Parts: sequence; structure tokens; C-alpha cells
Amino acid sequence: MKELLQNVYKRRSVRHYSDEKLTEEELAKVEEYLHNLKPLIPELKVEFQIVPCSETNCKFNAEYCLLVYSEEGNLWLTNVGYMLEQWDLYLASLNIGVCWFGMGKVEEERQCDLVYAIMLSFGKCDPSVFRNGDYDFSRDEADSFWSGMSDDRLGAIVRLAPSAVNSQPWRVDQVDNKFNVYRQRGGVPILSNRLFKRWNKVDMGIFLCYLDIALESEGYTYSRVLGTESDEGKRVLVATYTVDVKH
Ligand SMILES: Cc1cc2nc3c(=O)[nH]c(=O)nc-3n(C[C@H](O)[C@H](O)[C@H](O)COP(=O)(O)O)c2cc1C
Repeated sequence: MKELLQNVYKRRSVRHYSDEKLTEEELAKVEEYLHNLKPLIPELKVEFQIVPCSETNCKFNAEYCLLVYSEEGNLWLTNVGYMLEQWDLYLASLNIGVCWFGMGKVEEERQCDLVYAIMLSFGKCDPSVFRNGDYDFSRDEADSFWSGMSDDRLGAIVRLAPSAVNSQPWRVDQVDNKFNVYRQRGGVPILSNRLFKRWNKVDMGIFLCYLDIALESEGYTYSRVLGTESDEGKRVLVATYTVDVKH
């Protein structure tokens, strides 16, 4: 995961694409990487379909959309966020633009035992749209969502994680080497509760992906116990990390 760190400072949501098409070689790399994604929950089956963006309800002028289908189960949307954020970051390294598209709809919500989760648009774009460092982000400061933080370097990386409408629903409570990661419920009122609930679960997977990149890049080892996708209470425990310095 740590090889993705440099792309954390580069990626952004790309909503304007160029007319240039992906080469066959680029498309092959994009597809191949889908098979290399590290799952959060290996037991959950996840499948992908690449379709022309014009065949979806995605309003961007991207060449393609990636449709993500998953088996349902505890934290399935979080697993999807964790996996596809790796892909989002990888595509930035190829100068291919991506945007998560939560408003996406498909005609067939089910494919055998799998359920539609989300789509992401992607295609060629002007490489100058990418970021170039950690200064061009509109994000909360790490100490506003992470209590007891003992290593600012971790906060400086994870605060850059993208989320639906930039809602940043994550909270971290650290006590010594235990990090409890929560999803804060009841965020942005402008969106229908149903959609928002769903996206924030994806957001949490994106956050865990960034946390793993940060821990690995800064030389920590860790183990993780996952929590639940419950819709009860103001804060839902998504994962507990036990973190150690690598020897
Ligand atoms: C789960 C999820 C769903 C999103 N859905 C949409 C969407 O429907 N339309 C859109 O324009 N952007 C969408 N975004 C992009 C976010 O608005 C964007 O990531 C956030 O504002 C941070 O900006 P950045 O990605 O450029 O860093 C989505 C992002 C996530 C993580």
C-alpha cells in the first residue's frame, strides 16, 4: 500500500475529461489493477464492469465508467471504498482522471448474488488538473477528528482522504497504541439520508485505505479488528487498530 503514498498528494476528483481516448495499453493496466486490489474483507466477492460513460447516467464527459458490484455483508460498502480507493490512486499515477459518482444508477441493481454498489467515471484529462503537494486540499485539520494523536505524520496523510460531498465522516480516538476508528452519523443535511448513509460507509473504506498507507509509509506494523456497519447511535465503531513501531 505504501507505494500509493505519492498519489495521495496528486489525486483529485476529475469531472472534466479530454477528448483523447485511453490507449489499449492503458486500458489493460487499468483492468489488470482491478485484480490486484487488496480487500478489507477477502470473503466478500466483488466484481467490476467497465462500460462507456455515455451508457450510464453519469453526467461527466468521461470515456468510461467502472460499475462495482459486491456481495452484501457486514461492511460491504466499506470494503468497496477500501478497494476502489487504491484504484483511484493508481490511476492518478497514470495521469488518468477518476471521480467517484455516488449519484450513479444502473438498470439492473442485482447481478446473480451481487448487488450494485457504486460507479466511478474515468478517462484521459489534462495532467495539470492533478494536485502537486498537500496544500491544495479543502479538508479538516487532523486534530479536529483524531483525539490523542501521537504522530502528526499520520494525521497529515489521512486528513487528505476524499469523501462524498467532502463530509469527512471519520473520527479516531487513540489511546496509546489502540486506534478506534468511528463513522460519525448525522452529517450533511442537504442529501437524502438514504444516499448519504450509503456513501459514508464507502467513505470509511477510503479512510481505512489512507490510514493503512500512512501506517505503512511511516514504518508501523498493525493489526485490525473490524466493527460493524450498524445504523444505530451517533458514532459507529468501524475498526480498532493495534499499532506498533516496526523493528
Ligand atoms: C463515495 C463518494 C461519492 C461521491 N459522489 C460524487 C458525485 O455523485 N458527484 C460528484 O461530482 N462528486 C462525487 N464525489 C467526489 C467528492 O465530492 C470529492 O471526493 C470531495 O469533494 C473531495 O474532493 P477531491 O476528491 O477533489 O479531493 C464522491 C466522492 C465519494 C468518496
